[in-house]
Amino acid sequence: MKKILITGGAGFIGSHVVRRFVNLYPDYSIHNLDKLTYAGNLENLKDIESCPNYRFIKGDITDATFINTLFKTENYYGVIHLAAESHVDRSILNPLEFVYTNVIGTVNLLEAAKVQFLNNPGSFFRFYHVSTDEVYGALGDTGMFTENTAYDPHSPYSASKASSDHFVRAYQDTFKLPTVISNCSNNYGPNHFPEKLIPLCIHNISHLKPLPIYGKGENVRDWLYVEDHARAIDLIFHKAQNASTYNIGGHNEWKNIDVIRMLCRIMDVKLQRAEGTSAQLITFVKDRAGHDQRYAIDATKLQNDLGWLPSVTFEEGLHKTVDWYLENQKWLQAVTSGAYQNYYSEQYTKR
Ligand code: NAD
Ligand code: TYD
Repeated sequence: MKKILITGGAGFIGSHVVRRFVNLYPDYSIHNLDKLTYAGNLENLKDIESCPNYRFIKGDITDATFINTLFKTENYYGVIHLAAESHVDRSILNPLEFVYTNVIGTVNLLEAAKVQFLNNPGSFFRFYHVSTDEVYGALGDTGMFTENTAYDPHSPYSASKASSDHFVRAYQDTFKLPTVISNCSNNYGPNHFPEKLIPLCIHNISHLKPLPIYGKGENVRDWLYVEDHARAIDLIFHKAQNASTYNIGGHNEWKNIDVIRMLCRIMDVKLQRAEGTSAQLITFVKDRAGHDQRYAIDATKLQNDLGWLPSVTFEEGLHKTVDWYLENQKWLQAVTSGAYQNYYSEQYTKR
């Protein structure tokens, strides 16, 4: 069986990618390597954990010795690398953690992949780095990020992802390691850790807690349902040319305040609350430092080359997402106990 290493498979996007590959490709053996940080949760993969083509490996990508031994032992057919520290606000509080995992962890994987690739001339190999549109910086009122937009990251998170993208390209150019990169817009959907805007607000609406909107809520994000992202990753992993880059986006730009107003309307109905109840929770708070104004992705290349388009409308996706959280209160309770409480009380004390 062809062994595929998926890193960060216990996280939000990674769990959807792992599930898709395990279910669709019985001839692959899917190895999910994850450190299980606060964002990694094996509950996300309960439904596939006993599939014969799935294996979980607990490990840290910053541990070079462990990574080198793993590649030597397993001889991977391909790597889909998603493991990362992924939250901008945490990167402002603790940038070094982002350098360790996102930069050094990625270089550790590239180095082990390079050794395996050079030792097996003629064998297929592909290293796929799953990255973010945030590497391109911020847009004003008009324009979109294309694959040719110059990198201009502003947050420690986006700077670390930009750096890891550069290392991936450096390994392609210097060692001919076969690589692909995709840069995707903001995802939402089931299993999203409730620190990011949409799941945080779903959680807070459920508990009638304030909905913290940074600044005036006028920043714009381009939202994509997570399963559409997983489908794009599948296509790119299988069909893209080596050394190529693809932007992935939802054609779905929204101001934050409008996203939250829509979410409030949806949840008032689902929770059988009087119209307007949830919107009263909206609270404008101090803006995020260095807050990028607008992201918008031009995904024409992915559409033209590989025929990908998003399949889930924002309204459908939000309904599915809210339903998932309402049906999975236990999951939400489990991930919002302990360290989560400390993180949020620290955040709010600082505001
Ligand atoms: P996430 O925070 O939900 O999950 C990250 C996973 O990586 C977790 O399971 C965590 O345990 C694991 N991990 C963290 N550090 C690790 C380490 N040192 N060793 C091994 N595993 C480690 O993140 P996500 O939102 O699912 O994002 C996945 C990837 O997609 C990231 O690379 C992110 O930059 C990228 N991305 C995310 C979005 C988005 O909207 N969430 C958009 C575009 C790109
Ligand atoms: P987030 O979900 O953290 O994703 P990213 O920063 O990677 O885009 O934030 C999405 C948008 O929502 C961003 O403009 C910041 C804003 N935001 C809030 O207004 N309040 C919040 O509590 C959070 C977490 C984000």
